[in-house]
Amino acid sequence: MCGIIGVLGFHEVAPLLVESLKRLEYRGYDSAGIATVNEGRLDRRRAVGKLVNLSDLLVHEPLAGKAGIGHTRWATHGAANLGNAHPHRSGPVAVVHNGIIENFRELRAELAEAGITPETQTDTETVALLTRMFIDRGLAPREAAVATLKKLEGAFALLWLFEGENDLLIAARKGSPLAIGHGAGEMFVGSDAIALSPVTDRITYLAEGDYAFVTRAGAEIFDAEGRRANREETRIDLSSTRVEKAGYKHFMAKEIAEQPVVLGDALRHYLTPEGVNLPAELDFSGLERLTLVACGTAFYACSVAKYWFEQLAGLPCEIDVASEFRYREPPLPAKSYAIFVSQSGETADTLAALRYCTEKVQKTIAVVNVPSSSIARECDLALPILAGVEVGVASTKAFTCQLLVLAVMALKAGIDRGHLSADQVQGHLDTLRALPGLMNAALTTSNDIAKLAERLAEAQDILFLGRGPMFPLALEGALKLKEISYIHAEGYASGELKHGPIALIDRLVPVIVLAPHDRLFDKTVSNMQEVMARHGKVLLITDSKGIAAAEGTWAQLRLPEVAEPFAPILYALPAQLLAYHTAIAKGTDVDQPRNLAKSVTVE
Ligand code: AGP
Repeated sequence: MCGIIGVLGFHEVAPLLVESLKRLEYRGYDSAGIATVNEGRLDRRRAVGKLVNLSDLLVHEPLAGKAGIGHTRWATHGAANLGNAHPHRSGPVAVVHNGIIENFRELRAELAEAGITPETQTDTETVALLTRMFIDRGLAPREAAVATLKKLEGAFALLWLFEGENDLLIAARKGSPLAIGHGAGEMFVGSDAIALSPVTDRITYLAEGDYAFVTRAGAEIFDAEGRRANREETRIDLSSTRVEKAGYKHFMAKEIAEQPVVLGDALRHYLTPEGVNLPAELDFSGLERLTLVACGTAFYACSVAKYWFEQLAGLPCEIDVASEFRYREPPLPAKSYAIFVSQSGETADTLAALRYCTEKVQKTIAVVNVPSSSIARECDLALPILAGVEVGVASTKAFTCQLLVLAVMALKAGIDRGHLSADQVQGHLDTLRALPGLMNAALTTSNDIAKLAERLAEAQDILFLGRGPMFPLALEGALKLKEISYIHAEGYASGELKHGPIALIDRLVPVIVLAPHDRLFDKTVSNMQEVMARHGKVLLITDSKGIAAAEGTWAQLRLPEVAEPFAPILYALPAQLLAYHTAIAKGTDVDQPRNLAKSVTVE
């Protein structure tokens, strides 16, 4: 996901623009640039690769000016090269963009008829060319930007800067988030609170379709129909935007280690000595069905939760990845809830799925890590997962906190629907409350996992197996491994092995079996033995009761026992550590893996 920053300041803005872009690095990017207006003159500097390359360039070719914009680009249209880096410029116009202009080809054709030829492969340049065309036709910058906006289709956050305008930024938001920051006689625009936290804690989020004229005196905000709009100014907790490694080598390592603490925070928020603490409006008693929609790791959290809602509450659950969901045009019972799980709360596909469900279901519920995010704000109810800022592109603590909130919801559903006795509820609550301590114990396997990872790093293909709620965890373990080590990995229901995947098994293929000693354990052991009979290298992750079945396996990890059905929350830890240490062994970029962004705000 691209990062955007804009500053109308008292001092030279170039250093501040780069500092804010550094706080957006976690989103993933492949080039960066800034533009400033200095005594009316517009100029820009851009560099491919890491921000340090832009900083180096600015030492040798400094950029003066007290008004400026900056951008980190995660390539959607066009290669990650200097020509495609933002800001894009046409004459007196510079613009930075996050998102996709879906009709950019038609617009290019219109520009060609006006004799205007693009120089890059990007959709963003089309915005600069259109704005410039309107200025050449005599429109002032404000009118030219609005005229351009009216021609754009797609999802975008845009920020314009103009030659001759030392005190004007024009911002627009349609799909991708954008916020205005208020200073003392200075004004700012940024992708989110993290980008703005070096300069202010006073934030105004633009609503869907808004645009704004920003000067040092303040912001004039207009809605999609061009009417003046008043948007709430909020104060952010700057500590919640702090993104430091705190002595860890990687953010991912820090975030894996934080899980006992942040899970404890979530437990204190959602459980009281009396039981479950969820908003009273959440009543599962009369529902016919739940629909859970998300992407990636968040989808695997939904997949685990399906087992929980159905087993603990007898509540049918439909799950789907957001990118497929709305195009299926699924019928939705009115007496149903739709739950959207998202760490960032800005994933375009999940947001679009939410909009498909709005007005069709009884209630839309967000389970998110960013309460001010678009998905949180557009749902009827938002449940924060309280994981704290997650910087590593590979989601870890957000996943286990999502699982915890979904587990509490499933318990509430079981209570509402009379599916659980008081003793059963108490037993499940005790299990959840014990999790932080069990996770601390599980973290002690890290050194053993690091040794195993040296061998895993040599593999070309790795399989993860699980049954029941451990099957989605096998999928998540495979995703974690592949996205940061770049080793091909697949997760499978262990009962499915015989239906094809067992053809992959030979002595070169590590098979990681996630198997707490639960009621499906013996069946999983049978599958494991089928693998070993074909010389597959089995790493068995189990508990003290299950370890007896480890004879003949390549390696074993022993975790504390955890009562069904919440083992996936605990077993996520070794899956994360396997991915982390294997990536270290491979020497890949753990926190910002190639091609990935922390939040995908484009379809
Ligand atoms: C997780 O490790 C991945 N980086 C990715 O699959 C992520 O879970 C997915 O893009 C969804 O993001 P969200 O939770 O912010 O919606």
